[in-house]
Amino acid sequence: MKVIETVAILRSVLDSQRSGGASVGFVPTMGYLHAGHVSLIEASVSANDLTVVSIFVNPLQFAVGEDLGSYPVDIAGDQRACEAAGADLVFLPSVEEMYPPDRSTTVTVGGVSEPLEGESRPTHFAGVATAVAKLFSIVGPCRAYFGAKDWQQLAVVRRMTADLSLPVEVVDCPIVREPDGLALSSRNTHLSAEERSQATVLHRSLLAGAALVEAGETNPAKVEEEITRVVATAALATLDYAAAVPADTLVADGALHGEVRLLVAVRFGRCRLIDNHGCRSLIP
Ligand code: PAJ
Repeated sequence: MKVIETVAILRSVLDSQRSGGASVGFVPTMGYLHAGHVSLIEASVSANDLTVVSIFVNPLQFAVGEDLGSYPVDIAGDQRACEAAGADLVFLPSVEEMYPPDRSTTVTVGGVSEPLEGESRPTHFAGVATAVAKLFSIVGPCRAYFGAKDWQQLAVVRRMTADLSLPVEVVDCPIVREPDGLALSSRNTHLSAEERSQATVLHRSLLAGAALVEAGETNPAKVEEEITRVVATAALATLDYAAAVPADTLVADGALHGEVRLLVAVRFGRCRLIDNHGCRSLIP
């Protein structure tokens, strides 16, 4: 496995591999890799001749006062995890390599960026889209692997890729969870022991919401109330939002129908966790 730090070298390696007929899989990450990230790398390795993992804590997607400064870092551990999962290349750019000081371009995706995370973190998705557009441009034609853990991010990336005709096939991968249901996240490391044990409430609240939808509830407000009720049973949890929305647009359009996505964001002290779960309404 090779570690590459510059745009020029990564481009030339991938261009020459592609010209020899190799297919490229790409897994963008912010590092501190866990089994969720590893599942994306393994999916890429099994479907492509060459897999590149990027590790870049993207400052643009953190607002002032968010956790950029305390975002966990473990470059040596990440490289071992990439190697063990079968990755061929790790792209490890500096902030200066990704963002020259005179940069002045931002990619803003409308529509699906706006609700939920977009309301709670108004500059977040422009930061994600700017980084991902740039990474897609550097990596070039590829399959790119994203986790359903960040459901809205996946929708934003799909929208951007289609709108800009980027030569990338976006592949989504299922959420990897701890045995007790907590979705793996680099941020789980910031939870105290008591917060960690209460954090299972996110998944439990989503399952309770899904059970209602699958029993025939079509009023999104009732499903959101149920999710809110379950979250409130965890004393240390503060709900940011609970949503029952169409899985593709993420914007309510009357009674629940077809594919529904349930999404929650919950704070435990300084730590903000998100999770989501898919279910199907009895109404087509
Ligand atoms: P990061 O939070 O490091 O996540 C990288 C990828 O891993 C994302 O596609 C995310 O959805 C996926 N992932 C995280 N936890 C997962 C889990 N428990 N199960 C399955 N997949 C999981 O998302 C980002 O980085 C950044 O926003 C990025 C796309 C790299 C742009 O900076």
